[in-house]
Amino acid sequence: MISDFLRKKISRHFTGQNKILFSNNIPGHNLIVENFRELDELGIYIHIPFCNKICPYCPYNKEIYSDEACRKYVKAVIKEIDYYAPLLTNKPVTNFYIGGGTPTTMLGKGIEEITSHIYKRFNMQCRIHMESHPNHLTHENLNAIEAMGVKYLSIGVEAFQDRHLKRIERSYTVKEVIKNVERAVGKNFECVNIDYMFDLPGQTELEVEQAGREMVDLGIQQVATYPLFRFPYTRLGREIHENSNTLTTMFRRRKLLKILEDIFYNSGFERSSVWAFTKKGVDKYCSVTVPAYLGLGASGGSYLKNIFYINTFNVAEYIKAIEEGDSPIALSIDLSEEMQMAGWLYWRIYETKFKKSDFELRFNKRFDKKYGTLMNLMSHIGFLKNGSDNITLTDRGTYWIHAFEDFFSIDYINKLWGTSKTNPWPEKVIL
Ligand SMILES: C[S@@+](CC[C@H](N)C(=O)[O-])C[C@H]1O[C@@H](n2cnc3c(N)ncnc32)[C@H](O)[C@@H]1O
Ligand code: SF4
Repeated sequence: MISDFLRKKISRHFTGQNKILFSNNIPGHNLIVENFRELDELGIYIHIPFCNKICPYCPYNKEIYSDEACRKYVKAVIKEIDYYAPLLTNKPVTNFYIGGGTPTTMLGKGIEEITSHIYKRFNMQCRIHMESHPNHLTHENLNAIEAMGVKYLSIGVEAFQDRHLKRIERSYTVKEVIKNVERAVGKNFECVNIDYMFDLPGQTELEVEQAGREMVDLGIQQVATYPLFRFPYTRLGREIHENSNTLTTMFRRRKLLKILEDIFYNSGFERSSVWAFTKKGVDKYCSVTVPAYLGLGASGGSYLKNIFYINTFNVAEYIKAIEEGDSPIALSIDLSEEMQMAGWLYWRIYETKFKKSDFELRFNKRFDKKYGTLMNLMSHIGFLKNGSDNITLTDRGTYWIHAFEDFFSIDYINKLWGTSKTNPWPEKVIL
């Protein structure tokens, strides 16, 4: 297919590799130790793979919550923390994110034990960012979330019209979800973020506009507005994928995003990443941003100095491996310098602004020498502002560069996560 051909060509240009190969050749203890030794700081990600109900569009690794699996999971994650604690040798942890699945399924069921163990065993220099499900946000639960040390809370609202909530099979009404968000806003979080999905089947421009205004009126500090990504291994993704045209979809999404951009910019928000808008002066809610991170739990991915590896996606297999003293790592890839640079650029573009000097600090190479021609071209077509040190993407550039990146990332996630979900210990995955 022509898209596969293009993907391979461009990927080769940026990474210098003919193929990106993840294999079950897992890194040994000494290699992991060496990789940690070279880090100055890192982030921690914990994956909570449980939900009360499975949504038909969701690409993430999750299963239906059960008390028994949860109990065993807590023990396994604590054991994994204990494995890594001596390896980190007191390195500062400057970002801590709990994602899922639905972390709030584990409130009062061991999540507090996991986080307090993290604060006991690692040199934590940050507060917690955590995802939550709106149905879980009672007064009691919100107090428990605050008591855990969560300062940045995200709520998966997804839509502001009952017909869309029904279509995507969310188990609440607009009236209920608004009450729960208001309750969270009334607490003392540094930043409350709402996840909102646009470009839902049959969604009108007016509905998107109405949702944008509703979010502003709720008094939240941040909105993450994702277009509905259609992952072919999800039910809804398959249904919509079959009768859609990529180019029409891209232009429709641009129009819808523009409606939201206008509302947020006029209400004191500024862009904080490709899809997120944060109130000016507020510290943003975000997943791990530092260049290196340790991922714990089933499907947790770790990006260290020269390697990237992922734990098995299967919760029972993850628990079994840890109980038996085996490694839960299922797949890994050695990262050449060229790949690390491409990865660095990908994430900085996602954040929409960055400094060339940070690249030079990280790689000891001049940014302009490596990417100067590309940046000049992008600047020429109005996609970014290319200053002497600062690069800032324009709104148009943010959208189109990211749409181009999605051409790779959605396909890569599809292959990597799609395979890992069906096979707990794949031999290899080629992207
Ligand atoms: C792990 S969920 C958030 C927490 C909780 N599980 C929930 O659903 O309320 C992360 C977010 O990813 C987004 N998401 C999930 N599937 C998506 C898809 N196919 N396209 C775009 N965004 C998606 C949703 O906005 C969702 O809130
Ligand atoms: S969207 Fe959230 S609640 Fe729904 S299946 Fe995914 S992680 Fe679970």
